[in-house]
Amino acid sequence: MGWNSWNHFNCMIDENIIKETADALVSTGLAKIGYNYVNIDDCWAEISRDDKGALVPKNSSFPSGIKALADYVHSKGLKLGIYSDAGFYTCSKKMPGSLGHEEQDAKTFASWGIDYLKYDNCNNDGTRPTLRYPVMTRALMMSGRPIFFSLCEWGDMHPALWGYTVGNSWRTTNDISDTWESMVSRADQNEVYADFARPGGWNDPDMLEVGNGGMSRDEYIVHMSMWAISKSPLLIGCDVRNISKDTMDIIANKEVIEVNQDKLGVQAKKVRMEGDWEVWAGPISHYRVAVLLVNRGSWATSITAHWEDIGLTPTTFVVARDLWQHKTLKPRFVGNLTATIGSHACKMYILKPQLS
Ligand code: DGJ
Repeated sequence: MGWNSWNHFNCMIDENIIKETADALVSTGLAKIGYNYVNIDDCWAEISRDDKGALVPKNSSFPSGIKALADYVHSKGLKLGIYSDAGFYTCSKKMPGSLGHEEQDAKTFASWGIDYLKYDNCNNDGTRPTLRYPVMTRALMMSGRPIFFSLCEWGDMHPALWGYTVGNSWRTTNDISDTWESMVSRADQNEVYADFARPGGWNDPDMLEVGNGGMSRDEYIVHMSMWAISKSPLLIGCDVRNISKDTMDIIANKEVIEVNQDKLGVQAKKVRMEGDWEVWAGPISHYRVAVLLVNRGSWATSITAHWEDIGLTPTTFVVARDLWQHKTLKPRFVGNLTATIGSHACKMYILKPQLS
């Protein structure tokens, strides 16, 4: 869980934005509920390396250097992430990639106090990612510092099938944009690989767009719910320095985050699809089940989760907690649970089995 600069700022980043974001993560309370990584994306370095071949922070936007920034972010109790590329240049073409410089760059990152590396796939030499990414894995492991390794290969070569030996998360999709269609299609592509996620290695359907303005409140709630139940990395992609109450209510929903961070680490699956509606479900700790009812259609509809679909025996009584209403429902449910859901909206529950 954390924040990344790309979805909101693209290349328009500088050290003040990163520092102010770290401050805002703390002052809003987001840090306390788990959003700990402050991740710089593309465009932080000069186009040329120095005379020893090292990456150089861009003087016009990061004049104090990355080490000073890491010290600042660490002093707030947070972690600093950085970005590079398994090619000659990053996707923006505004800075070099790490291909052929893996060891040196990993050492540089470690010496700066970096805690997370996002590793993109643009402008490479045409060889397979399965050849280029492990070189950085080994370099990071030799760097003397634990650094979370986020593979940003966009899902082209099914990284879910090999990513767990190479990094800690892998993108299963190309870039998200701030629209309903983009968001749900990323969730769909990511869902296919549910069986390959596990603690230490996660499917990544890309970063959150919540708060960037392109979707309705209900659509952003679906976005957060799908990411949470899919055990996806929760990387905030909006400007947390100017965050609305609506956005806070969505990204800071502790009950939804609890599902995302559950220790079983099992990614939910779509267990039933009928027309425009679907049921997503997955086990969480203490024999509970997380359930998401999603209406993708244009009219309100009634959606039923059947126990046979979601991994409960048909005679099990459950207590249902509505994670967006923050209410425990009065009746105990057995066999199924039905709710009416508005257009492009959802309901998310934790179902807790009872002894009788
Ligand atoms: C492509 C990645 O998928 C994005 O998340 C972002 O890192 C850009 N590259 C940066 O150029």
